[in-house]
Amino acid sequence: MTKIAILGAAGQIAQLVEPMLLKNTDAKMMLYLRHPNKLNQNKLTDREEVIKGDASNFNELKAALKDVDLVYANLAGSNIEEQAETVVKAMDANHIKRLIWISSLGIYDEVPGKFGEWNRNILGSYLTTYRAAADKITASDLDYTIIRPAWLTNKNEINYEKTIGANTPFKGTEVSRLSVADYVTKLIENPEKDVKANIGLDKEGTDGNKPAWY
Ligand SMILES: NC(=O)c1ccc[n+]([C@@H]2O[C@H](COP(=O)([O-])OP(=O)(O)OC[C@H]3O[C@@H](n4cnc5c(N)ncnc54)[C@H](OP(=O)(O)O)[C@@H]3O)[C@@H](O)[C@H]2O)c1
Repeated sequence: MTKIAILGAAGQIAQLVEPMLLKNTDAKMMLYLRHPNKLNQNKLTDREEVIKGDASNFNELKAALKDVDLVYANLAGSNIEEQAETVVKAMDANHIKRLIWISSLGIYDEVPGKFGEWNRNILGSYLTTYRAAADKITASDLDYTIIRPAWLTNKNEINYEKTIGANTPFKGTEVSRLSVADYVTKLIENPEKDVKANIGLDKEGTDGNKPAWY
């Protein structure tokens, strides 16, 4: 049976992926996170195990990834580059190849026009650190998929299109977390899909100078 590691398992997208995996697959899950109290432990099934740990701690992560087949990283923070470096090293140490990595729109300065300018102004150094993290992943020999979502919403909809490639002009301004979770789940179900790919995700028809709610 496949075992999936979810890093940052209490993250908002990760918490949407978890029930989708329970429903659509028979995979086991290793939920890795710094604050297990953020998960509803009563709801966990016997297919899930929780390991408390930090994604920037090599020894903790290396031990947690034992017997894991695929890693889905839903991480954040100003030390995201260090986390990326640690994830690559810990996966290498366990001979794991497949990684799904959530990043952000704009890290390759691929968002065109007025929205691109607005995005650069608002996100600033976040883009530089997220780009540095993505560079650690793309420079590795892992079978990665980097996902660059548009501005995230909590709309109850699955509605997305992809832009493929780091240098392809980004489309749209927003996408729902549920849509990103759907795409992550599809990748986990079909791990040979979109390998070594760098994918932008947005909701079709949401082009504009900034997200609609701003
Ligand atoms: N908001 C937007 O519009 C937008 C757009 C595009 C991309 N993104 C990015 O998409 C990603 C996923 O989004 P989301 O909404 O699911 O984010 P989220 O809810 O903030 O989840 C990120 C998770 O990362 C965990 N984390 C941070 N540092 C960690 C570490 N060192 N070790 C282990 N876990 C760590 C956090 O856990 P604790 O802090 O609880 O430990 C948190 O649960 C984020 O990186 C976000 O920045 C956001």
